[in-house]
Amino acid sequence: MEAIRSAALYICSVLFILTEVRSEYIYIPSLVHHGIEGKPLLLSVEVHFPLDEVDLQGTWSHTKPSGTRTTLVTFTKENTITDMMFRNRLIFRQPNVSLLIRKLNQDDEGDYHLSLNIEFHNKTGLVMKEERTVHVTVDVPVTTPVIAKTPSHAVVEDKANVTLTCSVERGTRVTFQWLRNNVLLGPGGRYHFSPDNSTLVIVPVRKEDMGTYRCVATNPVSQGRSSRAMDLNVYYGPYNLAVNSGQGLRTGEVFTINPGELVYFECQADSNPPNSYVWISKSRNATQVITEGPRLEVHSYKLAQTEEYLCRAFNNATQKQDEAQFTLVVADFRAGIDRRTMDSTSFSPVAAITVCSLFIIGCMLLVFLRRSCHPKRVLMSIYNRPLSEQKRPHRSGHEDATEDFGIYEFISIPGKMESAQASSRSLARLESIQDMHTTIYDVIGQVPETPSHSLLE
Ligand SMILES: *[C@@H]1O[C@H](CO)[C@@H](O)[C@H](O)[C@H]1NC(C)=O
Ligand SMILES: *[C@@H]1O[C@H](CO)[C@@H](O)[C@H](O)[C@H]1NC(C)=O
Ligand SMILES: *[C@@H]1O[C@H](CO)[C@@H](O)[C@H](O)[C@H]1NC(C)=O
Ligand SMILES: *[C@@H]1O[C@H](CO)[C@@H](O)[C@H](O)[C@H]1NC(C)=O
Ligand SMILES: *[C@@H]1O[C@H](CO)[C@@H](O)[C@H](O)[C@H]1NC(C)=O
Ligand SMILES: *[C@@H]1O[C@H](CO)[C@@H](O)[C@H](O)[C@H]1NC(C)=O
Repeated sequence: MEAIRSAALYICSVLFILTEVRSEYIYIPSLVHHGIEGKPLLLSVEVHFPLDEVDLQGTWSHTKPSGTRTTLVTFTKENTITDMMFRNRLIFRQPNVSLLIRKLNQDDEGDYHLSLNIEFHNKTGLVMKEERTVHVTVDVPVTTPVIAKTPSHAVVEDKANVTLTCSVERGTRVTFQWLRNNVLLGPGGRYHFSPDNSTLVIVPVRKEDMGTYRCVATNPVSQGRSSRAMDLNVYYGPYNLAVNSGQGLRTGEVFTINPGELVYFECQADSNPPNSYVWISKSRNATQVITEGPRLEVHSYKLAQTEEYLCRAFNNATQKQDEAQFTLVVADFRAGIDRRTMDSTSFSPVAAITVCSLFIIGCMLLVFLRRSCHPKRVLMSIYNRPLSEQKRPHRSGHEDATEDFGIYEFISIPGKMESAQASSRSLARLESIQDMHTTIYDVIGQVPETPSHSLLE
């Protein structure tokens, strides 16, 4: 505590003395100078007293950064003695005591110290002492920086590191900054800077690193100078593979079309360079490339009742691929009367609402009646909707929950790669399963587009 108090006291008294002195007889406008090599520099001093009423005596001395101290000029009002070594390089002029350095070079850096004794004629015997120190740096202006990149060609995401270097032909005390799309980059993550920031290494390079890079070189005597732009191209993908139908609906796993209908599908994935696409049909147990390119057209009359399609996107540069698979079902109304009545394509809104209401009422009744019974299972089905219909929510379920007791089988449609976003579940009575087609048809006929959850307690 004692130490802190005495330190504070000391600082206060020093400040007091400084302000005392500062308000006195000389004033130096700038105590720090950033000089340019080869240019003159004036260490200017303002004198705040009438020169003809005083006697003056003083020195200018120079302390290099290394600590070497040299007296440059010693002066009185009548005489000036300049160190011979500096005779051609310095100009000291009375009446004010400013010092001019004619042509700066690197050796001129350091602290310039002015010590001045003043004796007023009306107060002989009393000598005032003034001391000031001016700090001088000498720099070479920076030239336009040059940006370079290795490797110079486009790189593959996650498989390469990119090094960007920035250099200047001339310039001292240069600091570098990096911009991507005019946003300043800082260290961290995959971005590594050399100690002087002249090199940026991206380890490893990613899709989001694509863009236009610039470096900016700055020093005390130059405003930031920007390099030309350098584009970084990164090969990536395919990402986010999706199959869209002509109507703009995203396909799920199963897709129904009406007999005679013509539909087309578009396969899309984000990738650089653009993907190549192939469409593959997996019908009749055989895999066969049908078409190349993102677009597939299907005439339903050419189909068997069910056909599996697969779109494969391949990026030549990254050697990566992705696949999306779905099943196309031709809804055949001649197959069975009872199925047709339930076919979602013939659903009217009224029918949908009626079914929904009945289902909800059934559920509520069941909850009331079966409070004491233990729940046996939860049934749910999720399907995407046929494209031929407008978007309209449907619900369906078991109108009589007492029939829910029985043996159930879980059937999943085979295939679907990792990119599949929805999984398909089929649920049907064991005794009604004849083949896969029938099962799929059943579920499509009864379960509409929006996921409907039925929770039986
Ligand atoms: C000091 O004298 C020099 C040379 O005569 C002049 O250029 C400069 O402006 C003066 N500086 C001040 C602060 O009066
Ligand atoms: C001496 O002269 C200076 C400048 O003219 C003036 O500021 C100062 O007050 C004078 N001092 C006395 C004691 O007369
Ligand atoms: C990228 O840099 C990392 C870390 O220095 C290194 O382990 C890796 O091998 C480099 N990759 C390439 C492709 O040079
Ligand atoms: C390098 O850049 C970072 C921020 O981009 C900065 O904090 C750091 O001081 C710089 N280093 C040098 C030596 O300029
Ligand atoms: C269908 O393919 C499976 C396996 O790929 C094979 O076991 C089966 O014999 C094939 N069926 C026909 C009819 O070719
Ligand atoms: C894929 O790359 C090979 C060579 O690397 C090239 O010959 C071919 O044209 C490329 N294909 C596409 C679709 O870019």
